Amino acid sequence: MADSHKGRLSVAIVELEGGSEVAFRAIAAEISLVMTKKNYGRLEITGDERSPNTFHMIRHWTNATAAEAFHTDPDIHPLTGRLYQIARVTHVVNGARRTDSMRLTLDDRRRVVEPDRRSGFERRSQDVGRPEGDRRQNNRRAGARRGRRPRARAADEDLVSAARRARENADARFSNFKVGAALETADGSVITGCNIENATYGLTICAERVAMFKAISEGHRAFARIAIVADTPTLTPPCGACRQILWEFGGDLEVILANLQAEQATHRLKTLLPLPFDARLL
Ligand code: THU
Repeated sequence: MADSHKGRLSVAIVELEGGSEVAFRAIAAEISLVMTKKNYGRLEITGDERSPNTFHMIRHWTNATAAEAFHTDPDIHPLTGRLYQIARVTHVVNGARRTDSMRLTLDDRRRVVEPDRRSGFERRSQDVGRPEGDRRQNNRRAGARRGRRPRARAADEDLVSAARRARENADARFSNFKVGAALETADGSVITGCNIENATYGLTICAERVAMFKAISEGHRAFARIAIVADTPTLTPPCGACRQILWEFGGDLEVILANLQAEQATHRLKTLLPLPFDARLL
């Protein structure tokens, strides 16, 4: 490792769930090809002796810039998307000091992120831009040193509160139907959105898509949950277009629906969007 530019590497554990080793190796071969062709570095796959369905995916980066470029490379995203459809992927070492752009499952997020969580939800929600900066890493470590504990379920309420606050910014002058959304990224940042309507009606955009597009534009690529709030006794689920966008960028998100009272329900996106269309089918 010492010769790979100060040992800059990322290691992920790949546990095949809905897929075969053949399918995994095919995806890995494609990732490897992009890595070598674009001089990002080298991909190494090792098996886990104790578990035939578990592999280690080691990416030896040429340098930090190469690792960054890999994570935002549009040729890589469909491949990581395919990988996440067949495997649980847990990132254990990140030599490039950034969260991987691959989509994390909720359990992965808990495993990887929660030990690092600081208690300050506010601090996380103010975190702007790329979540992977060194400043953030240092802050996390400082939090860990102070022995702060993860806030597991309490954060649900925080996420709903953030969506309620975002809803207040909605520009719903035609329908008067205000919606707020709060999207939690894999590393615990919260990005909010509200619906914005338009005189042509058709250019209206929903709260959920605003939140997702804001997050993408700020460099976030892995997501865990979204809270959606409207002022209705029957909880408002995301529309079809939003389900599609949330699925393509966020995978099987946890979807928390709430109103302005205490009413709340949790769903998985997969159940709200059965038989989804996505890049795997292109
Ligand atoms: N709307 C959302 O923002 N999210 C939803 O989940 C459902 C609908 C918005 C779109 C439009 O501005 C208004 O609510 C009425 O449809």
